[in-house]
This record gives sequence, structure tokens and C-alpha cells, in this order.
Amino acid sequence: MQRVVCPGSFDPVTNGHLDIISRAAGLYDEVVVAVLVNITKKTLFTVDERVEMIQEITRDYGNVRVDRFHGLLVDFCASNGINAVVRGLRAVSDFEYEMQMAQMNYRLAKVETLFMSTNPQYSFLSSSLIKEIARYGGDVSGLVPETVLGKLRTRLAEDEG
Ligand code: PNS
Repeated sequence: MQRVVCPGSFDPVTNGHLDIISRAAGLYDEVVVAVLVNITKKTLFTVDERVEMIQEITRDYGNVRVDRFHGLLVDFCASNGINAVVRGLRAVSDFEYEMQMAQMNYRLAKVETLFMSTNPQYSFLSSSLIKEIARYGGDVSGLVPETVLGKLRTRLAEDEG
């Protein structure tokens, strides 16, 4: 059973993330999408909300499971029988940080990292940019799943009010 993890903050999940998750699901027996619980970082959506959104958009994939983790990714991997991480690479600017994490995870627990090049259609996408554009009224449709779009509008409207 080849199981990999797609870890991230997913605040919120974008079509770029979904593209990587679905392509990983085509290559491996099981993909575990692991949402980082980071109590020190202020997020727009709670962990429950982020997990729910990913569950909703991956419902049709029989081999994708959504979970949450705190602490080290390598510890999550150990307790879930996972020895490889899949990360999307958008541009050279991602490389340095990603390489550092990949090498550290290998050094810590021999957890491998597999880099997948993002679909050029989404290579400029990031969750922070999505939040910024949406906050100032820009159109992010087509860049995030429909369900995320709705929740983004509602949450930002709540924040305004
Ligand atoms: O979506 P992100 O924020 O780019 O994802 C980063 C993530 C969650 C993969 C990374 O911060 C992580 O693995 N955090 C867990 C803590 C950890 O293991 N840190 C050491 C990494 S070498």
C-alpha cells in the first residue's frame, strides 16, 4: 500500500492544491491530506472548517482521506505509516524553502519528499493572495472550488460587519 501525505495550512484550499491532491491520488493507493493545526498563527478558517472544505471537494476520490496534525510532520507520518510527502512546486521561489523542509524531514526520519510541478494554470496562486484579493472585492472564482468561494465571501462579510 503506497500512502503519501499532502500537508499544508490550506487556509483556504485552492484549485492549485486540489490539482496536486487529485494528481497524487492518481499515482498512489492512498493520499492523506493533513491540515496543520497551528495555534500561534491567525487563520481565516478554523481547522474544522478547513478539514470540512477539503472533505467536501475530495468526496469523489475514493482514496483521499483528510486529517489534521500538530507538531512535526514526520511524527504524523510515523503514526500513519507514511514515508513520503507530496508538495507542489509553483516556481523557483518555492524551491529554497521546500528543499530545506524536504532535507530536514529526511534527516529527521528518512521521510522522502516528492515535488510535483503545479499546473501552469495555477502557478501564481496562493491562499494568502486569494484572501487578499477576495477581501478587497476582487474576483477569485475559478481559482478556488465553488464551496470555498461561498465560504470565503461569507467569512469576509462577517469580518467587515
Ligand atoms: O501550506 P504550507 O503552510 O506551505 O505548509 C507548510 C507545512 C504545514 C507543510 C509545514 O509548515 C510543516 O510541515 N509544518 C509542521 C511542523 C514541522 O514538521 N516543521 C518542520 C518541517 S522540516
